[in-house]
Amino acid sequence: MNESMVNWRRSDTCGTLSAGDVGREVIIMGWVNGRRDLGGLIFVDLRDREGLTQIVFDPAESPQAHEKASLLRNEWVIALKGVVARRLSGQENKDLGTGEIEVRAIDLKILNRAETTPFQVDGAVDASEVLRLKYRYLELRRPQVFKAFLKRHQIASCIRECLNRQGFVDVETPFLTKSTPEGARDYLVPSRVNKGLFYALPQSPQLFKQLLMVGGFDRYYQIVRCFRDEDLRADRQPEFTQVDIEMSFVGEDDVMAVCETMVSDVFSKALKREISLPIRRMTYRKAMALYGTDRPDLRFGLPMADITEMAGNSSFGVFRKVVDAGGRVKALAVPGGAAAFSRKAIDELSKEAESLGGKGLAWVKVTAGGWQSSLEKFFDDGTRKAVNDAASAREGDLIIMVADRAKTATAIMGGLRLVVARKMGLIPDDVFSLVWITEFPLFEYNEEEKRLDAVHHPFTSPNLDDLDLLEKEPEKVRARAYDLVLNGVEIGGGSIRIHDPEMQGRVFSLLGISKEDADAKFGFLLEALRYGAPPHGGVAFGLDRLVALLIGSSSIREVIAFPKTTTAQCVMTNAPSSVSEDQLKELGLKLAGQ
Ligand code: AMO
Ligand code: AMP
Repeated sequence: MNESMVNWRRSDTCGTLSAGDVGREVIIMGWVNGRRDLGGLIFVDLRDREGLTQIVFDPAESPQAHEKASLLRNEWVIALKGVVARRLSGQENKDLGTGEIEVRAIDLKILNRAETTPFQVDGAVDASEVLRLKYRYLELRRPQVFKAFLKRHQIASCIRECLNRQGFVDVETPFLTKSTPEGARDYLVPSRVNKGLFYALPQSPQLFKQLLMVGGFDRYYQIVRCFRDEDLRADRQPEFTQVDIEMSFVGEDDVMAVCETMVSDVFSKALKREISLPIRRMTYRKAMALYGTDRPDLRFGLPMADITEMAGNSSFGVFRKVVDAGGRVKALAVPGGAAAFSRKAIDELSKEAESLGGKGLAWVKVTAGGWQSSLEKFFDDGTRKAVNDAASAREGDLIIMVADRAKTATAIMGGLRLVVARKMGLIPDDVFSLVWITEFPLFEYNEEEKRLDAVHHPFTSPNLDDLDLLEKEPEKVRARAYDLVLNGVEIGGGSIRIHDPEMQGRVFSLLGISKEDADAKFGFLLEALRYGAPPHGGVAFGLDRLVALLIGSSSIREVIAFPKTTTAQCVMTNAPSSVSEDQLKELGLKLAGQ
């Protein structure tokens, strides 16, 4: 039978007692992290979210407590009354915040027992991910795991304070709504009252926040769940959290300034680090040309160069063929790579290029005697020098080269850049590198569907200088959009929106959205734009990603209390799960094949 806490009040947590508390009588409560029975003395490590405290049960001091302590098992919940004492010299534990002291037991209450857990709580890292997620609450008991959530809470609080201070108002928007076009699939919810009809869970509050601007709210924010049915990766979850912001009567710089204040507040208040403002900006075009991605990791250099012209002057068949077909050849010099990359390492890099969609990898070692490579014979002296210069390659470097269609070659080299940086140890820990990417294209051509897609979303305003190109050369039109990238991860993105109904109509029609379709999907927005919509713009940050990066987690799952697996399942609750025939009937649904 478990004992009650009556008349016992917790005086301290298990993470805070120190030498300054020696001599105090305390009551602490928590979980048994481990018990060591040393014949006479019994040692118990007691755990709560703050940390561990060592308790000593001495039969000479409190025989009753000692006897009870011999029953204790891991994860039992206990309350302990005792006196804080200094540990014997030489027995301190430097790894533990409370390592200088121990609590000598006076009395013990067993508040609850626990069955043997599927994995040892403080050894959770060794258990399989599925097991850890199935018993996620056990993993959450680890003080280190809790620490991530405390940090998340501090970051979110700091964001709220920052936005509150600047006149932003937190407004909730519906979850049961209509599809929003953020480019992923919707999660649908069938309506019982309106059989055959469905709500969509919002991929973001995009349309509602714009309508709040039409409603005159001026400055809105929300820390809000978004739902996207997309292929999951380490930095993607089907439900995730955005810090969603929208403002009226603003241009890009105003929105970016709010973001910079917010990010800098988070760094200084939640992380005790300073970042220098303004955050640097780079155009999309430059980011793609130098780093092969719109989210470059700028903690290290390794820019790529375009050597199409020189490749075209060579007699290397592979290159000539690609260049003649209108493709591009990209090169990247790896400083010190000549020695660092063995034949085997280059073969691995080549495989990497193939897994990124490439057809191969050409390479050159730049030595005192010139190029050491099977390519050497295909290039004359001048062209070799021109390649070295373009790639800023010096003696001792390895130059890697990829020839392909422009987009493919750029993307492959962008991917190889990361692989090479990791191999060469060029990515510093504990450095945060922020960059705004600006001047995104408004549209990109979708080869499969043979039509234009919106790069951000269809409500993004075109750059006013490019309006003439809209119908003529739509792919050249720049968007008034911006993304904030931290260490190669897109942590936020937004844009100035279209507030003119006619312009919105033009963009929809360029996207191949018919008038009827536009009316059916976004008629309410188009209508609202006709009733005096103010110029407005905004941004949304991925809070999970931001927190994960700031605390050095490799996956956003570590900062989500109950995350889903990569197959979008919750192994703890077994969601998604089947429903009864009656429920389906009530909703007017029938499963195919039944
Ligand atoms: P966007 O689609 O770029 O913009 O999303 C904003 C930010 O949300 C994060 N994010 C995700 N995080 C975890 N899991 C996911 N599946 C996921 N998808 C996105 C990213 C991203 O930068 N309505 C617009 C914003 C705007 O224009 O104001 C939007 O949702 O960090
Ligand atoms: P091959 O003529 O196909 O044997 O290729 C000769 C060399 O060029 C090999 O090292 C290939 O890895 C490399 N190579 C092949 N295709 C490409 C490409 N598209 N870009 C860069 N290198 C390539």
